[in-house]
Amino acid sequence: MGGRDTTMVLLDENGVRCDGRKIDEPRRIMIKAGGLKNADGSAYIEFGDNKILVGVFGPRDVHPKHMSNTDTGILRVRYHMEPFSVSERKNPAPSRREIEISKVIKEALEPAVMLEKFPRTAVDVFIEVLQADGGTRCAALSAASVALADAGIPMRDMVAACASGKVADTIVLDINNEEDQAGQADMPIGYMPSLEKITLLQLDGILTPDEYKKCVDVGIAGCKIVYELQKKALYEKYFGKGDN
Ligand code: CDP
Repeated sequence: MGGRDTTMVLLDENGVRCDGRKIDEPRRIMIKAGGLKNADGSAYIEFGDNKILVGVFGPRDVHPKHMSNTDTGILRVRYHMEPFSVSERKNPAPSRREIEISKVIKEALEPAVMLEKFPRTAVDVFIEVLQADGGTRCAALSAASVALADAGIPMRDMVAACASGKVADTIVLDINNEEDQAGQADMPIGYMPSLEKITLLQLDGILTPDEYKKCVDVGIAGCKIVYELQKKALYEKYFGKGDN
């Protein structure tokens, strides 16, 4: 959470948020499966003003070899923000934040991917954030799941992700960058809807136990919306009239 901006009206008396949404309304979400011909699988997501491209490579040989595991495959994730993706130019060198987000996305995907089917190999997931507007880890995780499925990697389920949060003392779905900066709490959630399992849950801010439960429920409802769009993206590529 950034500093509190008390001048901004985050939620008006009619329950309308600063970007015109209702409290349980996600931003506009568009997911496309495929698109990168040199990747084994790929996906592109627009989640509000976030624009993120994901390429998946593998299963392939591990270099350096000592990183390989004879019992299972390994997943490697690189989350990278383009210097132009945010209003204040970001240093192109990997930041602590990018290293942390790469780790949490990797750990959120691992329960979904059947790595045990590919011992000694690696599956690499490259995430390029072209434009960021709050909630990039959720958007990236959702797109990465589609890219893994597009690569034909066996999965137990896809991980769908969405954040909930607390804004103007109210629990809302899918907080944007302004709400992230000026709001009271942000809870990104990654969820496997068919298996009903949470694989990512972070919390920045302070919530009462009741608010915490509500945030989890609201976040999971958002993940279910994302999940339908993930499936639709794959369906459109493989069974629709798409040009992939
Ligand atoms: O993107 P996400 O909400 O998952 O992670 P965050 O660390 O909470 O970042 C929130 C937002 O801050 C990002 O989505 C960007 O819009 C913005 N940001 C920025 O403006 N400059 C940075 N160097 C990093 C993030």
